Amino acid sequence: IKTIGVLTSGGDAPGMNAAIRAVVRAALFKGYKVKGVRHGYNGLLTGDIVDMNLRSVSEIIHRGGTILYTARCLEFKTLEGQQKAAQACREAGIDTLVVIGGDGSFRGAKDMAAQGIPCIGIPGTIDNDIACSDYTIGYDTAMNTAVEMIDKLRDTTQSHDRCSVVEVMGRNAGYIALNTGIAVGALVTLIPEVPFDLDRDVISKMKETQKTGKKHFIIVVAEGAGKASDIANEIQARTGIDSRATVLGHVQRGGSPTLRDRVTASRMGYHAIELINKGIFNRVVATRAESIVDYDISVALSMYKTIDTALLDISHAISI
Ligand code: F6P
Repeated sequence: IKTIGVLTSGGDAPGMNAAIRAVVRAALFKGYKVKGVRHGYNGLLTGDIVDMNLRSVSEIIHRGGTILYTARCLEFKTLEGQQKAAQACREAGIDTLVVIGGDGSFRGAKDMAAQGIPCIGIPGTIDNDIACSDYTIGYDTAMNTAVEMIDKLRDTTQSHDRCSVVEVMGRNAGYIALNTGIAVGALVTLIPEVPFDLDRDVISKMKETQKTGKKHFIIVVAEGAGKASDIANEIQARTGIDSRATVLGHVQRGGSPTLRDRVTASRMGYHAIELINKGIFNRVVATRAESIVDYDISVALSMYKTIDTALLDISHAISI
């Protein structure tokens, strides 16, 4: 291996830049050449490939987004697209590819490996939904952004004696909602992993707490569990409590990464280059109990991740 390509793919996540920086610097330090592929796998199909040097990654460790841009690439999902992408790697002299992204990006990495381009995956997504890894780059920043926003929402919710239903991201997973719900003191947190009944789990609880003097309510809902507007409308119709829906949306994907995201991204990026340097390929870098580990890509993609529903019980017990 002489030249390493690096790309970001799928939804961006705060800390991706810190991961790019670590990959580029660690690779250059070990004597490799590095090329940045822009706009995800699209960049391979369009030839959007740039040389990276030590200074290409200056001033980015604290920046959200990704300097390499990102995309979800449809053409790459076809065999023809994959063959074309592998050929583009060969023509650009890229011997191996580091892919920073989520599950879809790792499936792409597996396809590239099948076309003879070895890959290493690094989990970058705010959703924390990569099965093989306890943690994904961007998750902590996204949650802290959500907490900051919901704290602001609490002020106005309280002033008006209202109910605020806040929808947070997470795709099909409830990790962001679960932890954010606890951190903001939500009365109820709804996540896709745990079925709920609006009457039993939300409205009854609101009425119970009203009896003890509670006048305003924060309900956090994961986007995979329901729509904030539907839930807010239902609550208002059934309780008469003035209710508002807030969808935090893509604001959760932006902003300067937290310390946790910067450090994890730096450790993961460094680990990716260590693997390549040892001649170990087609792995996904992951965290397990604060350590950096790695798994075969196919194994990683077949794994299943659970969510700690005990946190819901705690949330429920102390939000009364
Ligand atoms: O995977 C990250 C994520 O932000 C999800 O939480 C969300 O469901 C999705 O991406 C939104 O995708 P897009 O940016 O394409 O609207």
